[in-house]
Amino acid sequence: MKLLEAKDHIEMSRLAADIILEQIRAKSNAVLGLATEGTVLKTYQELILNHKVHGTSFAQVRTFNLDEYVGLSKNHENSYHAYMKKHLFDEINIQSSNTNLPNGEAKDLEKECISYESMIHKMGGIDLQLLGIGQNGHIGFNEPGTSFNSKTQIIELEKSTRIANSRYFNSLDEVPTHAVTMGISTIMQSKKVLLLASGLQKASILYELFNSEVTDVIPATILKEHPNVIIIADQEALSKL
Ligand code: GLP
Repeated sequence: MKLLEAKDHIEMSRLAADIILEQIRAKSNAVLGLATEGTVLKTYQELILNHKVHGTSFAQVRTFNLDEYVGLSKNHENSYHAYMKKHLFDEINIQSSNTNLPNGEAKDLEKECISYESMIHKMGGIDLQLLGIGQNGHIGFNEPGTSFNSKTQIIELEKSTRIANSRYFNSLDEVPTHAVTMGISTIMQSKKVLLLASGLQKASILYELFNSEVTDVIPATILKEHPNVIIIADQEALSKL
């Protein structure tokens, strides 16, 4: 794992956007694996800015998001579908038919997981997977204890994850109990992985990530076995190292 130290959240986001843009320049129809929530938001703003100011085209780019809550409609403001539309897709020239997220409302969720996984393979796999990290070390929504062999799957969210994510909902009760997420092996098959971490609330888990052996208790530790991982973290997130 290669670590890039950023001064702050802004610098982390700029460095991350640069790596994503470099990937698109190298392969205009790159397959990007995308993440949601707070850490990656500014990275998306940087991509939008680059599109608007420098005309970077996303016309051929294909995307697969890591995860989606089970039971939230695509139009629900807290769904990851809505997040991606609002914070990235509506602001760049990507074709909506090239963007993919798991359908958390599918009647047959098991079937949805199998078909999501096979779509990723049909596209030739993910060139660059963007990741945040949960305070318990989850990647995507793969909670501690998830098998390293897992493919796209339905996962029950830990209470701590639901509490952490409840800041976007009116109350904890509204946070879904389950999600569909790419599995750990799906993520590990990406050609490159870019993990971002920012802020003091990520300092303990980053310490664990760097100092612990590979263990399913901290799902992100599996990334130590991936040949091409870049971690960009800001000074606050690195403050316990
Ligand atoms: C959610 C997402 C993860 C994300 C994590 C951290 O659980 N499923 O992909 O990494 O939250 O979120 P934040 O970036 O807001 O700290």
